[in-house]
This record gives sequence, structure tokens and C-alpha cells, in this order.
Amino acid sequence: MTTSIFNLYENPSEREVTVSGWVRTSRAMKELSFIELNDGSCFRSLQVVDASGGSYPVGTALTVSGTIKLTPEAKQAFELAAASITVDGESAADYPLQKKRHNVETLRGLAHLRPRTNLFSAVFRIRSVAAFAIHSFFQENGFVYVHTPIISTGDAEGAGEVFRIAPVNGSEFFDVPTGLTVSGQLNAESYALAFGKVYTFGPTFRAENSNTARHAAEFWMIEPEIAFAELPDDMRLAENMLRSVLNYVMEKCPDELTFLDSFVEKGLIARLEAVAKADFAAVTYTEAIAILEKSGKKFAYEAKWGADLQTEHERYLAEEYVKDPVFVTDYPKSLKAFYMRSNDDGRTVAAMDCLVPGIGEIIGGSQREERLELLRARMSELSMNEEEYAWYLDLRKYGGCKHAGFGLGFERLLMYLTGVSNIRDVIPFPRTAGNAAF
Ligand code: 4AD
Ligand code: MG
Repeated sequence: MTTSIFNLYENPSEREVTVSGWVRTSRAMKELSFIELNDGSCFRSLQVVDASGGSYPVGTALTVSGTIKLTPEAKQAFELAAASITVDGESAADYPLQKKRHNVETLRGLAHLRPRTNLFSAVFRIRSVAAFAIHSFFQENGFVYVHTPIISTGDAEGAGEVFRIAPVNGSEFFDVPTGLTVSGQLNAESYALAFGKVYTFGPTFRAENSNTARHAAEFWMIEPEIAFAELPDDMRLAENMLRSVLNYVMEKCPDELTFLDSFVEKGLIARLEAVAKADFAAVTYTEAIAILEKSGKKFAYEAKWGADLQTEHERYLAEEYVKDPVFVTDYPKSLKAFYMRSNDDGRTVAAMDCLVPGIGEIIGGSQREERLELLRARMSELSMNEEEYAWYLDLRKYGGCKHAGFGLGFERLLMYLTGVSNIRDVIPFPRTAGNAAF
């Protein structure tokens, strides 16, 4: 029976143990060698002292049996005095992760090995913990988890970014054209009108040809949908969810966050602590445009009413103006998807985006148009085929009610939680325009 390094840190006591893991570093002194062994069970490694002075190349898989010695005067609280060491798998001399630190660009070319570095060990454990935190937030608050289809029949967002799917033999497999989902929202709405509160959490695909640090062709999205709810309820839900995930990650991942605070973003922990306490600010799109116009900043794209907020605008609002997460609400209807609820002014819709410093938009949501005639009119303005959406319109015909929801980009949330500035470094095997290696 092997003991996990996690367990050793949980119960540091003198005892006989067997530990299996991979050599992170190895230093041979005159008679002794010191091996830093990591088994992935926690962020921290175990110091192994080998009195026989064996030499083990970085990356080697080892099983070590011996005695735990408490070392209160040393940097690490305890070490393992090895009695026997078995090599489970040698690591060849050209192992690419020899150095202590590597740049992230190089590591992207080593996506199969990078989880063995400190940075990716921290990021991907936080990814796992944050996913769990999201499920527990929704489950504890009475939401039903719905698995919306990955093979979808429409373009929910109407942005023309759907990946078509077809069998390799070329013939159509389904009775209608299909693609990979860009959002589970429309299906989630149907379940919200039965269960009241639902969420989806799954992979999402967009053939978005923008080569930026925050767009991936495959990413994960969390989409709650709530019935008998309006836009302010939706915003409150988003804020409560973000705060709950932040707190959970801070509680479960202190070692990972301390590492990221030292090596990726100085002040990360203080920033997360502050956000976990503050109420999020909210401005309307119209106010946001006025703020941008008065900012005196030179933007590459002019901020003017009717034009989409660019990343530079979003970042100015969150980073410099509010210095915290901020909701922007009530966008012009021409900028948003067909399903958003028309406001009484006739020009804007009940939309909300949540923008955060360093990234820009992490959440996009809205109250949905529940009024059948208004929805049909909007669809016809956009030359949409009503027949394709007959089932969606039924939701307005049979007990339709006010409802709202949002989509949180899971990778964008992780960038925000870790300080990592490129989406390619928070998803294990990233797919971006022109790049689907591994
Ligand atoms: O704003 P979006 O397009 O909203 C929707 O899809 C709605 N149907 C959501 C809803 O109301 N249920 O996308 C939601 C979020 C964005 O705010 C962003 O965080 C993320 O999904 N996102 C991406 N993340 C990574 N790569 C991409 N290409 C992304 N596109 C959107
Ligand atoms: Mg959006």
C-alpha cells in the first residue's frame, strides 16, 4: 500500500511508508542524495533522502519505502529517509522539463508533459476544484443539472460560428443540418420551464476566427436558467455563484494560490479576497458609452452608442473605472441575440455582461423574451425560420413566464482565479484557430 503525499502533509508523523511519484529534482551530495518527489496528490512535493547516494534523472517514476522523519528545524516539516527505492519507469536523458522554470509558450508545445510543472499543477487542480464548486453551488441551491445536447440543430447565438458535423462518408446522417453546440441555452430554457431552476455545464464549440488570448474553439460553459425571474435576479445569481466559487477555491487551494501569487500575479490572493467581499457594480450600456467617451483614453476603436464594446473598452471599465467586476446592462438590441427581452424603450434589450479586470467579459446573460408576439416579430426582423424554432416558440405558448439566465465561460473564470493571462494555459489540450495539436 502506498501513502499519498497529500496524506503525509495531513498527518505528519514518524512512521514507515511507501510513496510512489515522479522526480522533480534530484541533487547528489557526497554520500547522500536529495530527491524532490511529486505524486500529484497535492501541490507540494516530498523530500526524499537517499543515504545510498543514488542518482535519479528528473522525470523518473519511483517507489520509495522508508521512514518519515520530522524535521522541525528544516525548511520542510518532514522528510522521507529511504530504505529502498524501486525505479518504476526511467526518464530518458532528453526529458524536456529539466529546468526548474520554463516559459509558458514552450510548455504549450509540451501539452502532454506540462501538468508535471508547478504552474500547471496549480492551474489544473484549481480547474478541478472550481468545477466541483460550481456544481455544489447549484446543487445546494436547488438547481437541476441538465445535459443539453452537444450535437445541436440551431445557432443559438446567431453569430454564424457553428462547426458543421457530418459523417466522413459525406451523406447527411440526421434529418436536419446539425453542428456542435455554441450554447445549451435554448434547450436549458425548456427544462427551466419544467424544473424552475436548472444549469448546464459542458463543452461548447465556436468557429470563431479570432486569435486572441481569451478565445478558444472548444471551451466549457456554465449556463443556469431560472423561471419566474427578471434581469436583477439573474445578476444576483451570477454574483452569488462567482463569490461562492471564489471562496471555495481560496479555502481548498491555498498552496496553489500562494504559488500563483508569487510567480504569476503579485497580489492575486488579496484581489480574490477583496472581490469575495465587495458588491459588484452595475452600469447600463448607455452609461458605459458615456464613461468611455469622457475617459480621455485613446482607444483603437471608438466607443459610440450602437457599437459593440471592444475588449479594450471592457477592460477600461473593469480595470480602471470600477477596478472590480462590473455588470453592463441593457445593450442595443442590434448587438445581441434574438431571444433577449425587449426593453420598453424599443432600442435596448434586458442583457447583462459581467466584465472583470484583466480579461473583460466572463459572463453574458439576459432576461428572455417571453412574449410570443414580440419574439416572433424579432425573429422575422432577423429573417429567422420560424419552423426551425417552433418548439422554442411553444415554450411561450404553453405556460410561458418571465425567465432569465446567463453563460459563464469556465476558462475565463479560471484565468480570473489564477491570474493566468492566456486561455491556452487553463485548458488541458487547447483548441484554437489553426491549432489542434495533441
Ligand atoms: O456571451 P455568450 O456568447 O452567451 C451565450 O452563449 C448565452 N447563450 C449564454 C446564456 O445566456 N445562457 O457566451 C457566454 C460566455 C462569455 O461571456 C465568455 O465567458 C464565454 O462564454 N465564451 C468563450 N470563452 C472562450 N472562448 C470563446 N470562444 C468564447 N465565447 C464565449
Ligand atoms: Mg457575450
